[in-house]
Parts: sequence; structure tokens; C-alpha cells
Amino acid sequence: MYVRKVREKLRKENAMKSDPILRRHLPETYPYTSVTARKMIRKYPSLFIKPNRGSQGKGIIRLRRLHYRKIQISWGLQHREIPRKKAVQAVQRLMKPKRTYLIQQGLELAKYKNRIFDIRVYMQKPASKWFISGKVVRVAVQGRFLTNYSQGATPKTVEEVFSSIYKNQPKIASQKINRINALCLALARTMDRKFPGIRELGIDVGVDRKGYIWIIEANTAPQFNTFKSLSNKTMYKRIISRRRTIYS
Ligand SMILES: Nc1ncnc2c1ncn2[C@@H]1O[C@H](COP(=O)(O)OP(=O)(O)O)[C@@H](O)[C@H]1O
Ligand SMILES: [Mg+2]
Repeated sequence: MYVRKVREKLRKENAMKSDPILRRHLPETYPYTSVTARKMIRKYPSLFIKPNRGSQGKGIIRLRRLHYRKIQISWGLQHREIPRKKAVQAVQRLMKPKRTYLIQQGLELAKYKNRIFDIRVYMQKPASKWFISGKVVRVAVQGRFLTNYSQGATPKTVEEVFSSIYKNQPKIASQKINRINALCLALARTMDRKFPGIRELGIDVGVDRKGYIWIIEANTAPQFNTFKSLSNKTMYKRIISRRRTIYS
């Protein structure tokens, strides 16, 4: 079976934005330019700058507004404090000249045991219908701003994390999960219409500190090793079995 992949984040972002429901769950995103960067610095307390064709958290720069006209710039394991006026210059020194970047509103991701997390939703279309084959929470290393598995995040089940953060509110937890499922299915259908031939999607879903759900990105060639490392292999096996159908 022919399987299409779409690497450019901005292309996928534009496709998702065309759906009014998805749009409300997308952080504000633009192609990076120094003019847009200056505007975004004034507008949001934190920003993410990402290579348009990046993956695994590589090359991502975060800016965070501090006190006294200072900005924290973070990349890899490094952080610097710089005057706000020099932020754009500092960002551009870290960017690779021949690459295209995007700039995005930063989210205040919710925490589990004092670490930020997001949810990876693995979707597949083995025949004519999209399925959610698995969901896994990726809990970042303490103090880090990336939740990628390749950046050292710990995989946890959604049940474990949600029952902890919504301790006495199981109803809210299950509502949240239903909402995530519905959004991801809508996303898959929109992406499929815009990019016919895609068969798998790995959606990074963020929940912010107010509980609002955000779509961080959608991968058309998602990794599945995160699922392999969970002690319960049900989701992993389902993914592998559907992949057999897709790639036959
Ligand atoms: N706008 C954002 N606000 C907060 N965290 C973000 C934002 N964008 C990305 N991140 C963090 O960075 C990680 C990697 O970003 P992502 O867009 O998924 O790029 P990659 O393709 O490198 O995985 C996300 O899983 C999340 O932890
Ligand atoms: Mg990602």
C-alpha cells in the first residue's frame, strides 16, 4: 500500500487550521521572521521556535519572558538570560541559516509530579476508517521543556496520570479523554482530506494548566517505540498489527 508522509510542520498546521473546530485548539503559529518574532515576544509570555522539518525535539528554541525586560532563551540543555531587546538576535544566532523555522505561542503545560507532560495519540487507517490505536503520556525529565521520548521523557499510561491529576474527579478525567479522542478523530479526517494517502498519525496533545486541550503537532511518520516500553503491550501489539496491514 502507498503511504504518504508530510514532513513540513507549517503545511500541516495550515491544513489543520482550515477546520474551525481544530483551529481553536491550535497554538498561534507563523513562519518565522524577525518581524513576527518581535510581535510574538510582546504578545506571549513564552514562545517556541522550531525547524519546519524537525523531529524528536531537535533544534527547538524556547523563549520565556522574565522580569526586568529580560528573556530566558533555552535550547538543548542550555538556558541564558538576555535583555529583551537582544532576544531576536540571540535566537537567530542559534538558527541554522538554510533552514525554515516556525514560531509558535508557548503553552503552559500541565504537570505530573512536577514535570510537564503531553499525550501522544497514535492513529491508524488500515482500511477505510481511522482508529485510535493507542495513547501514551510522555512525562518530561524534571526541568526540561521537551516531552519527546528521545529527549528522555518517561512513558506513562493516561489512566495513571489522569487519575492522579483529577484525583477526586473521575468524571472530568473521562470527559477530557473523550474530548481528546473526538478532536483527534476530527484531525485525522481533516488531514486525510488535505493529504490523501496518509495512513498513520502521531498527534502530540497538550493539556495546559487550566485543563484546556491543545494540538501541538501531528506526525505522519510517528515513532512507536514509546508504546513498546510500556509494561502492558496491548497498544503496541495493536499498532504493529495494523502497520502490517498498512505496509503490506
Ligand atoms: N507551543 C508549545 N508550548 C509548549 N510546549 C511545546 C510547544 N511546542 C512544542 N512543545 C514541546 O516540545 C515538544 C516537541 O515539539 P514538537 O512540535 O512536537 O516537535 P518535534 O517534531 O521535534 O517533536 C513537544 O512534545 C512539547 O513537549
Ligand atoms: Mg513532536
